[in-house]
Amino acid sequence: MSAGVESLLALLVSRGGGQYGYEPVSQLAHALQTASLAEAAGEGAPLVAAALLHDLGHLVEGSEVERLARGEDDHHELRALRLLKREFGAAVVEPVRLHVQAKRYLCAREPDYLAALSAASRASLAVQGGAMSADEAAAFIRLPQAEAALRLRRYDDCAKNPLAQSPDAGHFLPHLRQAQAETRTAATRPDSPSAQTGATS
Ligand SMILES: [Fe+2]
Repeated sequence: MSAGVESLLALLVSRGGGQYGYEPVSQLAHALQTASLAEAAGEGAPLVAAALLHDLGHLVEGSEVERLARGEDDHHELRALRLLKREFGAAVVEPVRLHVQAKRYLCAREPDYLAALSAASRASLAVQGGAMSADEAAAFIRLPQAEAALRLRRYDDCAKNPLAQSPDAGHFLPHLRQAQAETRTAATRPDSPSAQTGATS
């Protein structure tokens, strides 16, 4: 197994004890619930991995609660992309990158979705740019991983139950390994020439 995949899981476990924004669950519990929902829905390893790691950006820099209190977006969906790109290809990285845009899309297209958002998620929507315009939504849904990002978003939104029982993090190591094997391209492998020269994919 790649030490990189293991280290991503270790990062989630070691730093995930803090509260998930204003929601009544920890960052780790939220991640495990999101991945469990994806697995239960029959998603493949790449989207289960994306679900598990989608909020890793909250754990690598800054504090979401403090930033939201200041009315700022922490752009957490972008903060961990460098780490994720070392291990995974687009089928994992893109749903993570797009999961905030997916919320903005769903708010524009589905009035019931907006109404069902938690108070905390509505608060963060405001600083994330609000519902998409018609043009933004039309451009978003044409992206190759848009549908996967929308599914991830729906698992994300349902993964805030303080009473939910989830597997522990180790349950998802095989999913991470499989997702890596399925999605990682030669250009991103550590022993490839482009990786050795620091080139990005
Ligand atoms: Fe989330």
